Amino acid sequence: MSRDLPKYTVPSLTPEDGARVAAILQERLHALNDLALTLKHVHWNVVGPHFIAVHEMLDPQVDAVRLMVDATAERIATLGVAPVGTPGALVAARTWDDYAIGRASTTEHLGALDAVYVGVITDHRRAAADTEELDTVTNDLLVGHLSELELFHWFVRAHLESSGGALSTAGASTEKGAAAAAKSATTSDSAQ
Ligand SMILES: [Fe+2]
Repeated sequence: MSRDLPKYTVPSLTPEDGARVAAILQERLHALNDLALTLKHVHWNVVGPHFIAVHEMLDPQVDAVRLMVDATAERIATLGVAPVGTPGALVAARTWDDYAIGRASTTEHLGALDAVYVGVITDHRRAAADTEELDTVTNDLLVGHLSELELFHWFVRAHLESSGGALSTAGASTEKGAAAAAKSATTSDSAQ
């Protein structure tokens, strides 16, 4: 990591560890900022049956993720490092593609959001594991986010789940693939 060491960090952490924790959090800050924007994009672009249910389900998720963004950025600052919250830096740093779907059915967006949450939660869990020894306060922050993110993921998945408990998006690895799988499950349901 080429970043300068902080001039101070929280008591009992070395400046090196403060910088390492802040770097982990900076990645999560980008992911959460991206998620908040993506959830709003979906809120605006869902169409079709169940529009209002999905449209209205998403705003509390946006509000909660924005609070996570704020807490993450302020933890970085507390560690003595400047958080980066600009869109250009986010796009330059992110390792994932921009959300791939515009105006589309609720089922397609929910399928794609399943894939989005899988990505965010997987990386958040890794960040929580990576901070468990380094900084318990940051670990606690990330674990707190995870309990909400995983709940929101279930809200999404409950729309994609059969009465037997199987997900229509099972096996899909991309947003577009998950959207197509969710759509085709709905089409085959209605054909029966
Ligand atoms: Fe709105």
